[in-house]
Amino acid sequence: MQNYQKLIYIPLISLGLTACGGGGGGSSKPASSAPPISSSSTPSSEAPSSALSSAVPSSVAPSSATPSSAAPSSVTASSSSSAATTVITLNMASGWRGNGEGNAGVNVNSDGVSFTASGDNIGAVTDLAKPVQLEDAIVDMVVNVSPEFKTSGANLQIIAQIKGGAWAGEWNCWSGNEVLAASTDAAISCTISEADKKFNQTEFDVQIGVQAKGTPAGTVTIKSAKVTLKQPANSSSSTGSVYSANVTSLRELADFPIGAAVSNNDSPTYNILTNSKEQAVVEKHFDQMTAGNIMKMSYLQPTQGNFTFTNADAFVDYAKSKNIQVHGHALVWHSDYQVPGFMKNWTGTSADFITALQTHITTVVDHFEAKGNVNSWDVVNEAINDGNPVANFRTNDSTFYVKSGNSSLYIEKAFEAARAAAPAATLYYNDYNIDQNNAKTTKLVEMLTDFKARGVPIDGVGFQMHVFMDYPSIANISAAMKKVVDKGLKVKITELDVAVNNPYNGGWPGNKITSFTQSVALTQKQRYCEIIKAYMDTVPANQRGGITVWGTTDASTWLTTATSAYNGEAIAWPLLFDNNYNDKPSLRGFADGLQGINCTNL
Ligand code: XIL
Repeated sequence: MQNYQKLIYIPLISLGLTACGGGGGGSSKPASSAPPISSSSTPSSEAPSSALSSAVPSSVAPSSATPSSAAPSSVTASSSSSAATTVITLNMASGWRGNGEGNAGVNVNSDGVSFTASGDNIGAVTDLAKPVQLEDAIVDMVVNVSPEFKTSGANLQIIAQIKGGAWAGEWNCWSGNEVLAASTDAAISCTISEADKKFNQTEFDVQIGVQAKGTPAGTVTIKSAKVTLKQPANSSSSTGSVYSANVTSLRELADFPIGAAVSNNDSPTYNILTNSKEQAVVEKHFDQMTAGNIMKMSYLQPTQGNFTFTNADAFVDYAKSKNIQVHGHALVWHSDYQVPGFMKNWTGTSADFITALQTHITTVVDHFEAKGNVNSWDVVNEAINDGNPVANFRTNDSTFYVKSGNSSLYIEKAFEAARAAAPAATLYYNDYNIDQNNAKTTKLVEMLTDFKARGVPIDGVGFQMHVFMDYPSIANISAAMKKVVDKGLKVKITELDVAVNNPYNGGWPGNKITSFTQSVALTQKQRYCEIIKAYMDTVPANQRGGITVWGTTDASTWLTTATSAYNGEAIAWPLLFDNNYNDKPSLRGFADGLQGINCTNL
């Protein structure tokens, strides 16, 4: 459609990036399970079937402990091979409880879920909601026991139990004390292999967890846990694969806006007004929407003086009806396809051009002020070039710069007009590649310093963050955000996507990743987590403008339709939901980052 990507990413090449691994980290599947302790050391009194059921308090009865979030909605998270498995990464931040009488409960902390191992059969469990097919599923956990636990000689037992009927369960998994080292992470595993196929549960939820066996002391921390389903899922997914990120609602995990870019009539297939799957995912997880296109200049004022608000109004009305805010995007952007012809062809004076620009801003912002629900704006988008080593304002490739008399004056005039029309709105300067802490960031900070000194009304900086698995580094992202924080301004991640393939590094296309395997998905999960965590760690609460992802599903990403770099191949897989609107592990990673949970590729 345009050469936008070239403008964005050429600096990445010139920086001489090394290959984007994507799947390089691998899934690092935990080692296979600890050998079961010998039968002679397993007293029959501790044996199987009644161990937990006898200790099930009413508090874990299904009715009070069935998080709908645990429902493994259909998702293809893993490889497209016929032997596709499905991985459910358990949420370590909530939904866990003590598993029986005498259990003091569990403690959710930054390391994971801990319990005090005060006796035999004391542990922690969480739920998997029906329908779930656990036959032959593998439960993998990373646990860490205290020195007291190690010294006590106690063992651990991964358990799974049906929350109804006879409360039957899987009790055959043992991780002996010998595989546990004090204060050291240990991978333990359990294959659910009860012969009677009772774990094909459509009737009841299942609880999964780990308990101490023997005469334990000290504490046990479950640092991460996942369930790999081996059976076709009870779902309508055509592949038979299922993945749930176990996230009830992303927006509920943050006290700042969590947004998504969505379409109206600019993309009939993914139209938020008509696509019920798009609606479901947006309404479940997001409390802010950005219009992917329809609030850009030529959509709102195609010819001078003729404003067309129909699509944008419907978009904002929908958001309003769902209690979702709208982030306005973008009042001024040079990108050719959306600059109205009358501006491109302007022959009047530069003063009149700036007046015309301000008229656009005033008219648009006034309109949405009257409508309500648009609380923030990208006032100017991408006004700085990617010069290396010295960046400057974009010049010849910006109609605004050229028609303003080869001047960047239009930037501050835009902010002034926006502020006058919307005194209470949060006004952002928005750009890409400023997360790299490079020459462009330096120019940005110079502009911010100047604007603050002269009282130009700016409230924050939008970091687009169209990034890759291995670029830019988290250190650079944090350092760049910190520079804006230090100016006392808000930081908003406005267009986040994490492309699995980086077509701008030297090794392309030799290193192209051609299938979205489980390993790649889990590496992406970790990357999402690290980015969100960097934001949380770097930006103080009162300066967080929010985080928006640029699209919902991998099928609708702009990266493979609006950019030339991928040559039309849908191999970016950059978002939180797969082509069928099912969760991806990246959704779990986003949630983990928000909650301060360790970022792992498990
Ligand atoms: C993109 C849209 O998603 C595409 O549909 C369109 O073809 C091109 O623009 N930075 C921005 C966004 O600020 O407005 C761009 O959106 C993506 C890059």
